[in-house]
Amino acid sequence: MTENDDNIHLIHCIYSSAATIKFSDDDIIALLEKSRTSNSQLDVTGMLLFEDGSFLQILEGTPEAIADLYKKISADKRHNNVTKIIQEPIEERSFSEWTMGYSGITRKELKEIDGLNDFFSSKKCYTELDENRTKKLLKAFKDGKWRASLQ
Ligand SMILES: Cc1cc2nc3c(=O)[nH]c(=O)nc-3n(C[C@H](O)[C@H](O)[C@H](O)COP(=O)(O)O)c2cc1C
Repeated sequence: MTENDDNIHLIHCIYSSAATIKFSDDDIIALLEKSRTSNSQLDVTGMLLFEDGSFLQILEGTPEAIADLYKKISADKRHNNVTKIIQEPIEERSFSEWTMGYSGITRKELKEIDGLNDFFSSKKCYTELDENRTKKLLKAFKDGKWRASLQ
């Protein structure tokens, strides 16, 4: 299969959710380790953001892989309010080198992203993000400014 063939059936799914437990750094590391192993088997890539009890996750892969994984993640009791913001075909992956990138971005840093200042100044959480703002956030991460890893 050529690289182009591989790209024909790719989608991304972006959802937000609210943690139901207090996630320590160790909890996040354990979650990421498990996710990275399983995502690499499914050829799923993406990014997880976590701040102040809110998650935003970007999952990239085939529609089948993403559907199965999203179902599993939605049923996870460690978070609720799982809300799909965007699901659409993509031409290529934005996070091809990440089986699951991670950023514990702070509210202060979020405010530095153009077009998001007003939103995060008002102390809203990820679960209230709309498609437009999510795309701005995604672009900022794609551009690499806030990518970080706990490892
Ligand atoms: C915010 C959040 C993000 C998650 N992301 C992933 C992920 O990217 N990949 C994954 O396999 N599991 C992820 N999980 C874990 C799944 O919900 C679930 O626990 C796991 O897939 C179960 O795997 P198992 O059925 O093999 O035990 C995530 C969980 C949470 C709370």
